[in-house]
Amino acid sequence: MTDIVSLDRHGDIAVLTISNPPVNALSPAVVAGLTAAVAAFEADRTYAALLVHSSGRTFVAGGDITSFDAPDFSAAPYNDTLARIEALDRPVAAALHGTVLGGGLELALACHWRVALPSTQLGLPEVKLGILPGSLGTQRLPRLAGAKLALDMIASGRSIGAEAARQAGIVDEVREGTPLEVGLAFVQDLLARRVGPRGTSERAVPDEGLPADFFDQALAEAAARKPFYPSARNIVLAVQAAATLPFAEGEAVEARLFEALRVSPESQAMRHLFFAERQAAKIPGLGRELALRPVHSVGILGAGTMGGGIAMNFVNAGIPTVLVEVTQAALDRGLGLIRTHYEASAAKGRLTAQQVAQRMALLRGTLDDAAFADCDLVIEAVFENMDLKKQVCARLGQVCQPGAIIATNTSTLDVDVLAAATGRPADVVGMHFFSPANVMRLLEVVRGARTAPDVLATVMQLARRIGKVAVVSGVCYGFIGNRMAEVYMREAEFLMMEGASPSQIDGAVEALGMAMGPCRMLDMAGIDVGANTVIEYGKAGGLPPDDSYRAVVRRMFEIGRFGQKTGAGYYRYDGRKPVDDPETSRIAAELAASHGIARRSDIGAQEIVERLLYSLINEGARILEEGIAYRPGDIDIVWTAGYGFPDHKGGPLWMADAIGLATIVERLQHYASTRGDAFGYWRVSPLLASLAGKGQRISDFAGTLA
Ligand code: 3HC
Ligand code: NAI
Repeated sequence: MTDIVSLDRHGDIAVLTISNPPVNALSPAVVAGLTAAVAAFEADRTYAALLVHSSGRTFVAGGDITSFDAPDFSAAPYNDTLARIEALDRPVAAALHGTVLGGGLELALACHWRVALPSTQLGLPEVKLGILPGSLGTQRLPRLAGAKLALDMIASGRSIGAEAARQAGIVDEVREGTPLEVGLAFVQDLLARRVGPRGTSERAVPDEGLPADFFDQALAEAAARKPFYPSARNIVLAVQAAATLPFAEGEAVEARLFEALRVSPESQAMRHLFFAERQAAKIPGLGRELALRPVHSVGILGAGTMGGGIAMNFVNAGIPTVLVEVTQAALDRGLGLIRTHYEASAAKGRLTAQQVAQRMALLRGTLDDAAFADCDLVIEAVFENMDLKKQVCARLGQVCQPGAIIATNTSTLDVDVLAAATGRPADVVGMHFFSPANVMRLLEVVRGARTAPDVLATVMQLARRIGKVAVVSGVCYGFIGNRMAEVYMREAEFLMMEGASPSQIDGAVEALGMAMGPCRMLDMAGIDVGANTVIEYGKAGGLPPDDSYRAVVRRMFEIGRFGQKTGAGYYRYDGRKPVDDPETSRIAAELAASHGIARRSDIGAQEIVERLLYSLINEGARILEEGIAYRPGDIDIVWTAGYGFPDHKGGPLWMADAIGLATIVERLQHYASTRGDAFGYWRVSPLLASLAGKGQRISDFAGTLA
């Protein structure tokens, strides 16, 4: 046997151990090792039973996702081995622990019996990669758990715990101990009971009395709710095959549907994001040996929209948190909103009353910033105003203990200026949370010119602890995300002044899968928030000398149309439903007249998409060439995790490669010539132009933060 897959004797039980750290993914070497081990077991008649388990932190977390890109990829060798395991004439049991996912669960399903540690999580998450389980998971799981639960698990990709799996018939027993101890004891019991092999594929899918049109309904729902994901339809078809066809025919259906998805652009994009997310956590030049600063307690200055949401992240992770405000009223309001949020979660059954009490007990509010003296990390989340932020940063520099990290949640201000204001810039970093901060997965970590490496590394690790996906950005206006959003909003507003309605603009990008178009997005975030950042940027001298620049948001702000919260912004709100408002079109026409912008009636969806998204891509390329982002994938993660950019397009730069960089450059040049380019809006990023000229992909560009 190999180091990766071994077969050892424990009396008359053969113990097969998979050791492929970190997550025992099914690399070709693991598959070869498994096949050899099964052959050895087949040949040795002195064994009474086979136990399959894994060493390390988990059983098998699935197929090796890196291998799916190989043009000659085939699931057949693995599937054949699973068939051989199932056909063994002596009992085979799997001892499960950790995360039993994808091809890992498929291995367990091919075994005759399954025992799991109580903490085990089991699932078929392939849908999150735009594929379906390709090693008979769609055929074997329904035979154990029924078609309804199997379809739910495969379509959602959600995992279930060991006890739930036992109740569903996926696992036979749940036992405490190490996987090896539990597995051996379980197999000894099987032998004592003289039970024999039991092939999952030979079972019938249980009759659950599902309605005759169950699968038709599921197909209709997949088409309506997941129109951009071919996997949604294929998953229903595969489970339907399990429920209606003999196993061998279902197997052929699954293989065909899997292969169609594996080579689909949607799955390639989603696989790109899987690895980009993990890559984003790595900071070039900083090794694992770097000692991190301890973070046992957190302080937050400002209990407004962001401060309260940020506090919940830490409390949810069990970290004591203190909120400091200027007035008792603001503090009470902030703490009250957090309590209301937790109580609402409890009412929906997501938290127990005890958990609510535990979380509130970790949270303290005060008006005295001396409370920060005991904190390891303090995040300021006061109003977005440079003078105020400089003042509070200077104060934090004094009250925070030596070695404590001072972070700012600013969305746009210069982190280096704020760092200097503290008098201890090495301790300062940007932690740009997104609203609602307790929900949104993205965290931009802003690396100042003097941020200490251990501060950066500590914050990246902390991000993981609180369940965020963190991306490092250098210092610039708006960092990665809002800087790109600025050009996107700029074009949305020019299109509005030229005659397009908000719903036309949003509709064009939503048709590509954007969760929300730019007008709905800013109406929800707050026109006041958006306008204020533009105004502050103007004061700092950052805006182009163009009076028409973001003229719509500024006018909306002047007249109190703050978006959804005031019932009108770009749209008018009928409850929460946005409707085009003649007043917006009147304002846009008036602004166009005063700025000499020609109105047109021929603005089509293609032009909207190109102007919004190609500008966004061009800005992303600039961010890369300036070294603001480490890598193209980081930009893709910012937009998919923070701005509702469709994951099936892989993020703006992945999408740029799919469109072709030469096409994008040509269209940018087209708009420069047709719209004029006095302010450099259409100036092509030199990096983009150069890659397009060489026929290279931007996703392959190895950028380095300056
Ligand atoms: N293939 C290849 N590499 C994988 C992998 C996989 N299935 N799963 C994890 N890895 C790698 C990660 O890229 C990462 O590598 P790095 O250290 O070089 O960045 C390393 O393993 C550790 O992963 P995480 O940082 O994600 O570790 P966590 O402990 O946070 O999470 C996990 C562990 C829950 C197992 C998570 O890694 C995960 O969700 N993995 C993917 C699971 C999955 O999608 N399985 C289905 C695969 S498809 C399949 O099985 C097809 C079959 O039906 C034919
Ligand atoms: P907010 O207006 O809801 O809250 C600000 C809070 O700070 C108020 O409760 C105020 O009383 C308090 N405050 C002001 N001065 C203070 C001081 N000296 N000491 C203690 N508390 C003080 O503002 P919001 O939206 O929470 O924004 C805060 C920060 O977060 C800003 O920098 C903003 O740019 C940033 N941000 C906001 C996002 C949003 O969508 N609202 C998204 C991401 C970042």
